[in-house]
Amino acid sequence: MASRGAFQLNVLLILAFAATAFSALSPYYYEHVCPEALPTIKRVVEAAVYNERRMGASLLRLHFHDCFVNGCDASLLLDSTSTIDSEKNSRANQNSARGFEVIDQIKIEVDKICRRPVFSCADILAVAARDSVVALGGPSWMVPLGRRDSTTASRTQADSDIPSPLMDLPALIENFKRQGLDERDLVALSGAHTLGFAQCFTFRGRIYNETNIDDDFAEERRKTCPRNGGNTTLAPLDPSPARFDTGYFNNLVEEEGLLHSDQALFNGGSTDELVKAYSENARAFSADFAKSMVKMGNIKVLTGEAVFWCCLGLCLVVPLSLILRDMPSYPFDKQVKIVIVTMAIHNYIRRHAKCDHHFEKIENDPNFILEDNDRDDDFQEENHNSNTPGAREVKKLRDSIAASLMRA
Ligand SMILES: *[C@@H]1O[C@H](CO)[C@@H](O)[C@H](O)[C@H]1NC(C)=O
Ligand SMILES: *[C@@H]1O[C@H](CO)[C@@H](O)[C@H](O)[C@H]1NC(C)=O
Repeated sequence: MASRGAFQLNVLLILAFAATAFSALSPYYYEHVCPEALPTIKRVVEAAVYNERRMGASLLRLHFHDCFVNGCDASLLLDSTSTIDSEKNSRANQNSARGFEVIDQIKIEVDKICRRPVFSCADILAVAARDSVVALGGPSWMVPLGRRDSTTASRTQADSDIPSPLMDLPALIENFKRQGLDERDLVALSGAHTLGFAQCFTFRGRIYNETNIDDDFAEERRKTCPRNGGNTTLAPLDPSPARFDTGYFNNLVEEEGLLHSDQALFNGGSTDELVKAYSENARAFSADFAKSMVKMGNIKVLTGEAVFWCCLGLCLVVPLSLILRDMPSYPFDKQVKIVIVTMAIHNYIRRHAKCDHHFEKIENDPNFILEDNDRDDDFQEENHNSNTPGAREVKKLRDSIAASLMRA
């Protein structure tokens, strides 16, 4: 019993995993729990993109880099600890993944408007990606929701699973196939490079050494990306990096793809035809992009009753049905205090009263509810006579703890 310490965490975990079975995502997942969440995310994303247009591409990329590493589970947001090797330090993310502060801000504002932390960080990443695309003139789509957040991350997995800008077409196809994505998804999702910028070191080899590149374009890019130095200088991935359009595919057809992995999609291989089609048909590109984003957002998602949330440096596991569903609408700050105080009291009692049979009951049966009568009977049983001076003292102490909790 004694080892079952901190706040029934293991009980909650077991519950969480038991409930993991096949519940699919749904765009309406938070509709009743927090209808204000989606407009709040949209507002924060719009403000961030208005403040800096490049942020749209950055937020879109966070969702992609989250999903390709063990699924869309917000593992990308976890910082390094003694047990976590942060994906933020992987080759593809270090000094290039950005926008974390926007995600943090969304999380704080959504928790506040929902008056409780019900919206997962993995879902925030998926919605922020969609809202970024919309903010920059791209298509909209319904984002299926209900992902749980991971409590672990893997830098090595990030190093092996996020596609590199140096890949050729077969490697790209294989990389996407491992995620359950086909060639159409590969081409459509690469179209995300209609937005944003790349650093010089990612395309230096292409502009100095490759032959399937337009001469004037290479010349132009070399001006700001020297052979030596200037590694982090940015170049736009297409001529209109803050507008969602078909410029990226037009570029590929003209051999003006910036990254090796971009031009690989139009280099005499099986994807040429689709690149050409998208370059001529913005509507087809937008429709396929939206479809593939939903498909990518479904990669290995964790679902089920419990909601994990970890983005603010703290991981908590909450079985919705037991705790949140009937929670009164205290202000968010007060709820946080109540949870913390309750945990502290629980842990204190567990440490000092290892045989408390109420705690044992609760730990052995997650559905156990402590009834008032039950508590009073027990109080008398343990103290034989609740009117002894000692018992009155205990009762007074208990009432003062309850009163101070109410004031917290
Ligand atoms: C270009 O190719 C040459 C010869 O293969 C190589 O030495 C050089 O490092 C390459 N330059 C870049 C920028 O990749
Ligand atoms: C610039 O990038 C190249 C290629 O990735 C790398 O070998 C080199 O060490 C980098 N230079 C600096 C100063 O970071």
